[in-house]
Amino acid sequence: MEAKDCKRKVILTGDRPTGRLHLGHYVGSLKRRVQLQNSGKFDEINILIADDQALTDNWDNPQKIRDNIIEVALDYLSVGIDPEKSIICIQSGIPALHALTFYYMNLVTTQRLSRNPTVKNEMTLRGFSSSEGVNNNEAGLPAGFFTYPVSQAADITAFKATTVPAGEDQEPMLEQTREIVRKFNTTYSRDVLVEPDILLPENETQRRLPGTDGTAKMSKSLGNCIYLSDDPKTVKTKVMGMYTDPQHLNIADPGHVEGNAVFTYLDAFCTDEQFAEYLPEYANLEEMKDHYRRGGLGDVKCKKFLIKVLEEMLTPIRAERARWAADIPEVYNILRKGTEHAAEETNRTLEEVRDAMRINYFDDDAIIGDWEAWINH
Ligand code: TRP
Repeated sequence: MEAKDCKRKVILTGDRPTGRLHLGHYVGSLKRRVQLQNSGKFDEINILIADDQALTDNWDNPQKIRDNIIEVALDYLSVGIDPEKSIICIQSGIPALHALTFYYMNLVTTQRLSRNPTVKNEMTLRGFSSSEGVNNNEAGLPAGFFTYPVSQAADITAFKATTVPAGEDQEPMLEQTREIVRKFNTTYSRDVLVEPDILLPENETQRRLPGTDGTAKMSKSLGNCIYLSDDPKTVKTKVMGMYTDPQHLNIADPGHVEGNAVFTYLDAFCTDEQFAEYLPEYANLEEMKDHYRRGGLGDVKCKKFLIKVLEEMLTPIRAERARWAADIPEVYNILRKGTEHAAEETNRTLEEVRDAMRINYFDDDAIIGDWEAWINH
């Protein structure tokens, strides 16, 4: 076995608490996290609610972040993240992350940060904006936002993560993290930090679930989301209003399934058993698609089926959410314990970092001798 395989396998992943989680998050990451959690293949799983990172572009609205910490925590718990198996923690309560960020800043140039494609994209996308979407270009770019990739490198390395399940958009963050790890380990001549691998989504639907408008990725800012916490009536309204095939005007017309969001969602969520139960005239999705393509199958029938499919998935999630929502002090406890655990664990990495740099003045007995020799040489 290679040395690398003997290493502890540690997962670190996270979300910015800027809104409730939706179906795109579910297929793209939450479902996978639960599978990884239950696979028994990892020694440790950490899920970080990245509130400090969220503040880098919501610094004027900490209440939004505070409110969404509990929403995101409830979403995690309701989909099956089990606090006995996964550590759920809040970034701002983990002091080592701030200290590490400060040391890593020395290992990164501003030029390199400007070239980080995610930062570049977000800079254009947001026009350096505040959370109100106001173009704050004139006011300039907050240094906190500009340097958040460094803080993300601290998140990942503090836990000595080997595996970071995340979307493609996070690849530049991982690349930057690996550069920092290499620079640290060579500069201070010790293999303290671990280079992480990204674990990307497995297929196109996981990578990019379209919004209900069918055109773009499901995203809060576009208002095209179905949230895990939406009630049945809301889900029904959203599905009935979904984008399908604009050329499919009459039931008898042939229709397109490519780019038709209803079929993309069915691809992502429905099973053959659900056909047997709700639409026995088709054995599976392929047969239903064929009928749609030929003509003679209406959108309403497809949407009604999709509602049943989504309800089957969302009903238990909603029930779990309601159960946890009825005991917020317990959720609070889970977050507090997870954060305390993470704070201790990452403090050990911080100590190793300071030790490698030999700036741990009060923990390194050799320093007194060094100082005496220096002064009396
Ligand atoms: N940047 C991630 C996002 O935009 C959130 C995040 C913060 C994260 N720290 C992380 C993801 C560490 C993976 C690993 O959602």
